[in-house]
Amino acid sequence: MKILRCLLMLFLINPIFGRDFSTVSIEKVARFWDKRPCNIRHSNQPIGTRAYFDEVEQRKYFVEPHIKQFAEFETWRGKRVLEIGCGMGTEAVNFARAGAILTVIELSPESLELTKKRFAIYGLTANFILGNAEELDKFLPEVEYFDLIWSFGVIHHSPNPETILNKCKSLLKQNGELRMMVYAKLSYKLFYLMHETGVWDFNAVDDLLAGYSEAQTGCPITYSYTLEEAQKLFAEFKILNIFKTHIFPWNIEKYIAHQYEKEACFKQISPELFKQLEAELGWHLLIRAQKI
Ligand SMILES: C[S@@+](CC[C@H](N)C(=O)[O-])C[C@H]1O[C@@H](n2cnc3c(N)ncnc32)[C@H](O)[C@@H]1O
Repeated sequence: MKILRCLLMLFLINPIFGRDFSTVSIEKVARFWDKRPCNIRHSNQPIGTRAYFDEVEQRKYFVEPHIKQFAEFETWRGKRVLEIGCGMGTEAVNFARAGAILTVIELSPESLELTKKRFAIYGLTANFILGNAEELDKFLPEVEYFDLIWSFGVIHHSPNPETILNKCKSLLKQNGELRMMVYAKLSYKLFYLMHETGVWDFNAVDDLLAGYSEAQTGCPITYSYTLEEAQKLFAEFKILNIFKTHIFPWNIEKYIAHQYEKEACFKQISPELFKQLEAELGWHLLIRAQKI
């Protein structure tokens, strides 16, 4: 813990210059996610079958249990929910199963097709929109319409995350909620990547994280945020809660082979200490916010 605190101090005395991805084309982003939709290798069953989707869900919530806690699916029964960037629809099916009146918007046609197939298999319904969330108002002209706008690991992959949040402002009901996850810059993942690549250049942090943020390398856009930067990003909202969580403790080679063995450094850590570490250096920055 002490070493990690020292590393954090290093960041405090070295200014980090944020990378601007706003000129990257949205088509490039869509192509990246089309080539390999998020979590597509979470199951070895034939893609698009019920067995496949069941296994994808089981694996996702095994490695990212905080998602269910953060979403509280059951509380949105009968409420209007918008999901931005549903990927292949793991959260979307859970909102729909819980009885939410669901709209999803997704940029990648391949990902949305998988989500539609998934809904058909489970006999669920939603309003599916293929499009760029930076143009939400083009697809959803309603005002003060949604009780919840959910977006997990999405807006930081879009050229202008602020534009998406701006569009959310008018779509959200006065007492509605935004629940979003963006990547946390000062994270165990960052230090792990710096160590693995030998790149200890604080000005290269954004490129490093963008290169390795996903299961596949070369994501065209990945913004990441310090707590202060995230507060600034959500400045037009009242933040109810903001916290870090999620350190991936598994040996990656085994994980790819669908086996779960913790890395040696995490084997000895008590669950309490691990939670504390996640709160300090987790990769997922979770934000709950409302309209001001
Ligand atoms: C890391 S995946 C997360 C998917 C899903 N939320 C999940 O947790 O499994 C990011 C997703 O965001 C989508 N995305 C990125 N920018 C977007 C935009 N501007 N509008 C809509 N979707 C976008 C991508 O196509 C991709 O499916």
